[in-house]
Amino acid sequence: MDDKTRVPSEITPDQWTWNVKVDPPFHKKHFNANLVKYHDRVMGQDKLRVFVPLCGKTLDMIYLSERGHGVVGLEFSQIAIEDFFAENDLTYDSEKLDGKPFVRYAARENNITIYQGDLFDLSSEVCGDFDASWDRGSFVAINVSTRAKYGRLMSNLIKPSGKILMELYQYDLAKCTGPPHYAEEKDLVENFTEFQVRMLSEFVVVDSPPYYSGDDFQLGVALLSH
Ligand SMILES: C[S@@+](CC[C@H](N)C(=O)[O-])C[C@H]1O[C@@H](n2cnc3c(N)ncnc32)[C@H](O)[C@@H]1O
Repeated sequence: MDDKTRVPSEITPDQWTWNVKVDPPFHKKHFNANLVKYHDRVMGQDKLRVFVPLCGKTLDMIYLSERGHGVVGLEFSQIAIEDFFAENDLTYDSEKLDGKPFVRYAARENNITIYQGDLFDLSSEVCGDFDASWDRGSFVAINVSTRAKYGRLMSNLIKPSGKILMELYQYDLAKCTGPPHYAEEKDLVENFTEFQVRMLSEFVVVDSPPYYSGDDFQLGVALLSH
């Protein structure tokens, strides 16, 4: 699309605004429609170990847990994590990991675990590896300068034969420097060098975030196979 020379915003994890009273605009009070649409095709009927990077307090973790998967989220914000458990009537055990910059929260009532810490400190040594990942608002949320590092991290975390289901956005770059950051298929091919990349859907116009003026904000869905 337009003006690819504009420099995308760069932010640190603590600059994501989580507030105890007001939900951030990216949080949705329903299951993600693309997760529901593509779940069976991508994750089948198997009981998988599924990673939800930059999970916030997404209800998609409940959806995945209800399909029988073991769900592992990763999030920097303690507010988001505590809200997630409280709002879903879950209690948890929490534990600071020895010698690692993470606190692990494990729900008592189901198979959801959330690691609190910085995504880029994570490795399979901390959290094990995964059969699949649901990436809504993670690849497009990280700084563009860290995309290759993210691709390498996912190679470390996703098992051979594992998959990543991912949402991508395209929009007029003159109107928004992100996040969410603009991404297309070639950005995935360049940064996930150990994965096969395939678009599952064309980009289609969706409601734009409140800070974006225009009716050309588009969403597409990709599948990455390890
Ligand atoms: C766009 S939101 C997406 C939330 C969630 N996936 C959803 O669908 O609602 C990005 C989230 O990632 C968290 N975050 C951003 N950078 C992070 C990092 N480096 N490590 C851990 N969490 C991070 C933010 O606090 C925020 O909750």
